[in-house]
Amino acid sequence: MRKMSIVVAVFLAAALGTSIVTAQQAPTPAVPAQPAPSPMGNAPELFSSTCAPCHGTDLSGGRGPSLFAERLLSETTDAALLHTIREGIADGGMPAFKGQLSDADIGRLIAYLRIRGGQLKGQVSFLPDPNGQIIKSEKQTFKIEVVAANLDTPWGEVFLPDGRMLVVSMEDRRLLRMEPDGSVVLHADLGAVATGHCNDMVVDKLGRAYVGNFGFPYPDGEQKPARLARADPDGTVVEAADDLMFPNGAVITPDGKTLVVGETFANRMTAFDIAPDGGLSNRRLWASLASNEYPDGCCLDAEGAIWVASPFTNEVIRVREGGEVAERIAATQGVFACMLGGADRRTLYALTASSADPNARFEDRTGRIEAVEVEVPGVGLP
Ligand code: HEC
Repeated sequence: MRKMSIVVAVFLAAALGTSIVTAQQAPTPAVPAQPAPSPMGNAPELFSSTCAPCHGTDLSGGRGPSLFAERLLSETTDAALLHTIREGIADGGMPAFKGQLSDADIGRLIAYLRIRGGQLKGQVSFLPDPNGQIIKSEKQTFKIEVVAANLDTPWGEVFLPDGRMLVVSMEDRRLLRMEPDGSVVLHADLGAVATGHCNDMVVDKLGRAYVGNFGFPYPDGEQKPARLARADPDGTVVEAADDLMFPNGAVITPDGKTLVVGETFANRMTAFDIAPDGGLSNRRLWASLASNEYPDGCCLDAEGAIWVASPFTNEVIRVREGGEVAERIAATQGVFACMLGGADRRTLYALTASSADPNARFEDRTGRIEAVEVEVPGVGLP
């Protein structure tokens, strides 16, 4: 089975980002100070006084990228590093150090980066304040931007056709909208239809949002079916379908005529026809999953297959209509959502964490975005 590589990680706690991406985040075991072997000389001190203010200590990065990243150290020669540090990167904000540091100093710094980088290999770090940081992963460079903060349990996020973002506010069962000036306003109140906390959604080309909810007081209450809510662009909320077991991630086909929604606690994907007025009909089983595969977030590809996040088997599963599993990709931990993105929509991003319990996650800070290239590009919505 193929595996994801950890490209990026996110501060999932309370903030919510557009380019929600950072280097790597996880519990940061405090890295014990190492006695300096000879090739490094005083490089550790030199690094913390001269470079760490911009590059962070160890794996964190900062105003500049992490210099302990495996990518940088395995792909860059000593001569290239020496050149960068001596001459700087004028248009990138990296100062030239040729007047301040001798080539011998720089040589010791490079030795330090390589030795320390080797020690840090495999460790991932947590960014306490990711906002504004530039992070380089193996393949991409990201700038992290916190676009809205202090929200009350933000969950599904989808863009309206005009580019404004909708966010599910889970516990108060509302749909919020982010305006171009950055303010967050009420889009629709889902309380009349939702009988549990709201979770994921899909928005069609006309801006109609289909939003799922737990249906009962998860995780303690007795399991009950839920109604799927539809919030129209004018804020009207109606029941789109009923009798769904924990409706969760959903997709809409490129022709706008079919909606497929994951029923987490029924281990299945269920399809509906979408009428021109937004009504759902012709309910049918789209795919059954195994009893330990609980569909969470999902996305559609150009062959009509759906990538389904599977939280308890730590993988993303590519399922075809009828239930055939075409591919499985392992992640490092539980997968709660996935999306095909990147320039050609061939990068499969997976949002992962060590557990589904928000309090546990806040403690251990294991939220990550992992990524892998796939063959068939994404289509449809979201
Ligand atoms: C004022 C902030 C600042 C300081 C101080 C600084 N850097 Fe940088 N550095 C940057 C930025 C920003 C970049 C990214 C430039 C780019 O890629 O456009 C960078 C890039 C680099 C790169 C290239 C990284 C890559 O991914 O290719 C190296 C190597 C580097 N710095 C080494 C150092 C060392 C060693 C020191 C200490 C002697 C140092 N820098 C001090 C801001 C700084």
